[in-house]
Amino acid sequence: MAAAAVVKHTFLVSTVKMKHLCKETQVTVVNGQLPGPVIDVTEGDTVAVHVVNKSPNNITIHWHGVRQWLNCWADGVPMITQRPILPKHNFTYRFNVSGQEGTLWWHAHVSCLRATLHGALIIRPRHGAGSYPFPKPHKEIPIIIGDWWQKDLRKVAWNMAHDSFGDFPSASTINGKLGDLFNCSGTPEDGYELHMEPGKTYLLRIINAGLFFEFYLKIAGHKFKVVASDANYVSPFTTDVIAIAPGETMDALVVADAPAGRYYVVAVPTQPPLPDPQVEAHATRAIVQYSNTHSPGSGAAVAGGDQSCEEDDDDVPVAPQMPDEHDTLRSFYFHGNLTGLPHRRPSPVPLQVDERMLITLGLGSVCRRGQSCTTGVHGKGILVASMNNISFEPPTMKTTPLLEAHYFHTGDIDAMPEFPDWPPRLFNFTDRGLTPWGPKEMEVERASKATAVRRFRHGAVVEVVFQNTAILQSDSNPMHLHGHDMVVLAQGHGNYNATKDVASYNLVNPPWKNTVLVPNLGWVAVRFVANNPGVWFVHCHFEFHLTMGMATVFIVENGSTVETSLPPPPENFPTRAAEDNLVPDEFYIKTKKTEASYK
Ligand code: C2O
Repeated sequence: MAAAAVVKHTFLVSTVKMKHLCKETQVTVVNGQLPGPVIDVTEGDTVAVHVVNKSPNNITIHWHGVRQWLNCWADGVPMITQRPILPKHNFTYRFNVSGQEGTLWWHAHVSCLRATLHGALIIRPRHGAGSYPFPKPHKEIPIIIGDWWQKDLRKVAWNMAHDSFGDFPSASTINGKLGDLFNCSGTPEDGYELHMEPGKTYLLRIINAGLFFEFYLKIAGHKFKVVASDANYVSPFTTDVIAIAPGETMDALVVADAPAGRYYVVAVPTQPPLPDPQVEAHATRAIVQYSNTHSPGSGAAVAGGDQSCEEDDDDVPVAPQMPDEHDTLRSFYFHGNLTGLPHRRPSPVPLQVDERMLITLGLGSVCRRGQSCTTGVHGKGILVASMNNISFEPPTMKTTPLLEAHYFHTGDIDAMPEFPDWPPRLFNFTDRGLTPWGPKEMEVERASKATAVRRFRHGAVVEVVFQNTAILQSDSNPMHLHGHDMVVLAQGHGNYNATKDVASYNLVNPPWKNTVLVPNLGWVAVRFVANNPGVWFVHCHFEFHLTMGMATVFIVENGSTVETSLPPPPENFPTRAAEDNLVPDEFYIKTKKTEASYK
């Protein structure tokens, strides 16, 4: 058993040029790498990451899924938990990873920039790999699914925040590589290669860091045994396909038990069901290469291979049969198969509920500032995404971050509207008749913009039912709660019906998740214990939904003791003193002059 350590990293954030598909693109990355560095720690360690911002953007880094127990200050959400780290400024995040094991990740919490600012955060058991609730794997390998954008992501963010859509990634990636489904004037792009020794077991730590898509992942000729998700163990189950939404992580064992050869690893983005608008999406692939098979072009057996292979057909890897991109049911059942491991759960399943919320998720419209409008999104309104018809208005750079305002009792929070426990009206939420624009849809789409917050007394057990709607579209929504894991009690299609659906709750071995996928035209019921004091963001992990306002803030009050209260901010916490160097809120402004000053 190793003693708890302080694991230190320096993250140098800068803008570099990377070339794919014959085109150089400016990307903002950590330490020049995409994906960024892996933070590899042992449960109980302290992590100190010194962020040096040499990029022209305001930056914060969020440690996705880390509980941040009594440490909301390190959660890294701009203007919610901290002022952003301005260009030419530094900040050190300090947090410990206690009571959690498995795969998490980190990413910039700046609109769209997380597409290139992210990496894995792996928490190993304190008592070594021997204490996994599964046989010790031969090797552990992060598999990060992401996107490659040929556009300036700052512009994409600006467009999304200004009612202009139509920017899509140019490619999907596995561990930063596009793979051979993409080519640059005939030359295939590099793909990720996973080398396996026959008979050995590998633990893949799979992360969806993409902005837009849920993915189906398969490896030809192999099966996965899913053993954990969102840094919580699950009862192992075997599947040939993994469904993973943005923000989620899945740990899966793969045994190299296929005949010697080469196998494609394919990730296919899913599309919302028709007649929803379809978006440009691209599959990507990597290769599993057995050590007893030669790689094409090498002309010789790779070390460890006694059986040299003479046949050339080994050169063409075996491809898996992928699910249809519209097959939402596979994902529904995959997620339904996740159950907790009772003897390894973080805490008991909360049984007494103190607060109940029903939160609808969907699109809608608001009027332009200072204008009135009556005709919804096809008239003068602006298309937004909302929760209970409130579209989150992020606090501007000119205000005090919410956590600071909360901690110092500035009164700013008291002036904010309360996020409602219920949608403004009940209707048939999943009625497909709401998808096309028209009178029916217009009746229910109206939203308002607000920085709405919901306060919880310390220790309250909160049950939330996330209900998707069919307003204008029927996307699923990966909902992420900061600072707490949620137990996932049940999911279903159609409208949640309390009297009937409570009977389907799994109170015995529900999975614990920080990101729950609310199925298309369906709902998910979760519970969490509001016992981590602070100001916590709750939002959809689809970037365009988040930017359009599918977010809110949960405030957990202090308990009655010092041990249950939020300590003061850490030293060198970004303060208003830096205001002189303030980058304007809308740092994505499109003017030529501003563009030029970024170069
Ligand atoms: Cu991974 Cu608030 O995000």
